[in-house]
Amino acid sequence: MAVPILNEPTPNILEASNVEVVYNDSVVALRGVSVEVRKGGITTVLGANGAGKTTLVRTVTGLLFVHKGKIREGEIRLNGKRVNSWSSNKIVKAGVCQVPEGRMLFPTLSVEENLMVGASTRRDRGQIQDDLLRMYELFPLIADRRKANAGLLSGGEQQMVAVARSLMSNPSLLVCDELSLGLAPQITRTLFDLLRRLNTEQGVSILLIEQNARMALEYADYGYILETGRVVLDGTAASLRENEDVQEFYLGGSAEAQAAYQSIKHYKKRKRWLS
Ligand SMILES: Nc1ncnc2c1ncn2[C@@H]1O[C@H](COP(=O)(O)OP(=O)(O)O)[C@@H](O)[C@H]1O
Ligand SMILES: [Mg+2]
Repeated sequence: MAVPILNEPTPNILEASNVEVVYNDSVVALRGVSVEVRKGGITTVLGANGAGKTTLVRTVTGLLFVHKGKIREGEIRLNGKRVNSWSSNKIVKAGVCQVPEGRMLFPTLSVEENLMVGASTRRDRGQIQDDLLRMYELFPLIADRRKANAGLLSGGEQQMVAVARSLMSNPSLLVCDELSLGLAPQITRTLFDLLRRLNTEQGVSILLIEQNARMALEYADYGYILETGRVVLDGTAASLRENEDVQEFYLGGSAEAQAAYQSIKHYKKRKRWLS
């Protein structure tokens, strides 16, 4: 008997197909979105404020219900399995973990206690201490602060704790929601370099949700542009970087456009000076 083609392993760890999401049965936040993350790949989803990026994160991590949202149409598949109705816990156990927008640390718990929260769904308790040490190797900056309250750390250090906490669940897919928000470019780069290492050395697949298109397209291999709940463009990161619209609207435009923008800023500054 022929082997049905459906049993072929998919090259994608995550597939969202034609997903429509509504909040409160009224606000449509995703309108037929299809996004794929290749196993071992770094995929980015770019979009301005309100485009639907966080909604996509909630959709693939089983957290829509917390926000009175639901998947009205379409499918989410993890390693080929339909997970539309899975709980967030089951999705974490299946290997998907997010670094949430705004970090969401417990400010009055120590760094180490925050990291342990990330390991709460694991059954291999014996391995957890080893992984904690591995996190301190990966993030030497937070190793020094392991007993400090997380709320006392700098923004960059907190983001490192948030990433390390997610890694403590031993994910095969890490979903990062606006990691770069509010961080200095150099700190963002340090974090993205680390994600790249996790990707190449340990094969962790990564979904980078970002407004910082310039940086994300440098690290990702494939990208999607989301505008008001729709994917308006997708392609290899290289092709997106070359695309004129992407350059104009997401990468700050050509040299001339940049110059014009700078002069407007200069003008505004001058106006402020005069007033
Ligand atoms: N809990 C919610 N209830 C109702 N509408 C929401 C909720 N969360 C987000 N939205 C709406 O969904 C759209 C997409 O929001 P969001 O996914 O947060 O975008 P982004 O992360 O790209 O800024 C926006 O119009 C936003 O107002
Ligand atoms: Mg968001």
